[in-house]
Amino acid sequence: MTHSLRIPDLTIPARPDPAAGWPAGVGPGDAGDPAVTDVDVIRVAGDARLAGTVHVVGAKNSALKLMAAALLAPGRTVITNVPRITDIAIMGEVLRRLGCEVRFDADDPVDPMVAHGGTARSRSVVIDVPERPGTEADYDLVRRLRASICVLGPLLARRGYVRVAHPGGDAIGSRGLDMHIAGLARMGADISGEHGFVIAAAPEGLHGAEIVLDFPSVGATENLVMAAVLARGVTVIDNAAREPEIVDICTMLNQMGARISGAGSSMLRIVGVSGLRPVRHATVGDRIVAGTWAFGAAMTRGDVTVTGIDPAFLEVALDKLVSAGALVETRGDAFRVRADDRPAAVDVVTLPYPGFATDLLPMAIGLAAVSDGASLITENIFDGRFMFANEMMRLGADIKTDGHHAVVRGRERLSGAPVRATDIRAGAGLIIAGLCADGVTEVSHVHHVDRGYPDFAADLRALGVEVERGTAPQAPDLTI
Ligand code: EPU
Repeated sequence: MTHSLRIPDLTIPARPDPAAGWPAGVGPGDAGDPAVTDVDVIRVAGDARLAGTVHVVGAKNSALKLMAAALLAPGRTVITNVPRITDIAIMGEVLRRLGCEVRFDADDPVDPMVAHGGTARSRSVVIDVPERPGTEADYDLVRRLRASICVLGPLLARRGYVRVAHPGGDAIGSRGLDMHIAGLARMGADISGEHGFVIAAAPEGLHGAEIVLDFPSVGATENLVMAAVLARGVTVIDNAAREPEIVDICTMLNQMGARISGAGSSMLRIVGVSGLRPVRHATVGDRIVAGTWAFGAAMTRGDVTVTGIDPAFLEVALDKLVSAGALVETRGDAFRVRADDRPAAVDVVTLPYPGFATDLLPMAIGLAAVSDGASLITENIFDGRFMFANEMMRLGADIKTDGHHAVVRGRERLSGAPVRATDIRAGAGLIIAGLCADGVTEVSHVHHVDRGYPDFAADLRALGVEVERGTAPQAPDLTI
């Protein structure tokens, strides 16, 4: 049986109009050359100021796991406020291949940006889970979406056997699975690896266990919780991750009939139950997308109100912006960041939640690059996160990295240049940095950005940026 991947319509405009006035050298190339393939690019004009209101929809890193959690209950689960991004489309395909019927519907309630003439940034996903879902996730999908590994726990719990391709590392680091594996083994699973697959078997079912994580891994916590909800007896996970996305998943699981306590703390206690029922659940807002706009406002001396997110999820990040000189107001599910002056340099250390999020590191480097003074930026989560710094340096940023530290000496303006997105957050960070540059910045390979930000270019436009989305020729492959 063959499967086709249905990527949601991301409303990418046709090739840009050469008459649009972009300087020579940054426009699209000749599409007639067969050796040259095109890549998606976003071009922004520098000297921009972000101003206005932007609505943030559900968090990618929650919705992906909520979709996996649906596997735990046969029947129809509906998840609303799901971002309209590529990663969600791939997760939909992962579930289809496991025998689920997956449908993306118009969201309810509809994303308020639609009222401002935009396309909906969110969808509802309707997942019909069979009595006996499949047990295998292939490499061709897992390599495109390493979060597919989160089907390991739920499928092992439901079926007693699962075979998931090992996702390997990626552009931000080596990304181990040892804590997922050790925790499941504690719960009675027999785990092996062969031909690039992780194979887990628990023919008699899983049992409760006491698990202490070496590090509060988000993915390991999620996989272990999703396995433990159907295990016999009580599981305690110590040093668990505390992210709002973990709380969101535990909330949905408890609505489904699970018995989880301690969500949001470092100690989770899960009393196993014999079965779960499908529910309807709304995804928590995306704190990383919200944080991207917050940093953008401070960097461009702008004034941005972000709705759809509990500002408490960004407490440390917003506090950094206050230290940098921005004015931050919070109310209910919204916050406003305003900056009138050049930001003052601040040091940033990434840590598991509630610390400063590693996914905002590219934005912190961007802020430092235009701040008054020198900043010390320390990355503690991923060993490859600074790889994108070379692209930031192409924009004129003064960055010196040493291991997991970077010293960034701020300058008044950056200098627009063609740069390449290497991952989701680096791509967004480079586009935002381009707003503080002289001239035009063209960020290529923005399919990475599409993985995490629903229609980033449209949101930039709504906030007053001169932006276009198009294609540019990729350098031909010269390997022999
Ligand atoms: N780690 C291990 N062994 C394990 C698990 C993790 O060594 O068994 C290491 C990883 O290699 C990494 C660190 O621990 O160095 C943190 O990994 P974690 O498991 O916490 O992260 P994740 O679940 O793989 C999620 C998000 C990331 C986000 C991190 C940290 C999803 C799909 N991804 O990854 O988001 O950066 O938590 O908050 O939820 C993104 O959205 O762009 C993104 C990369």
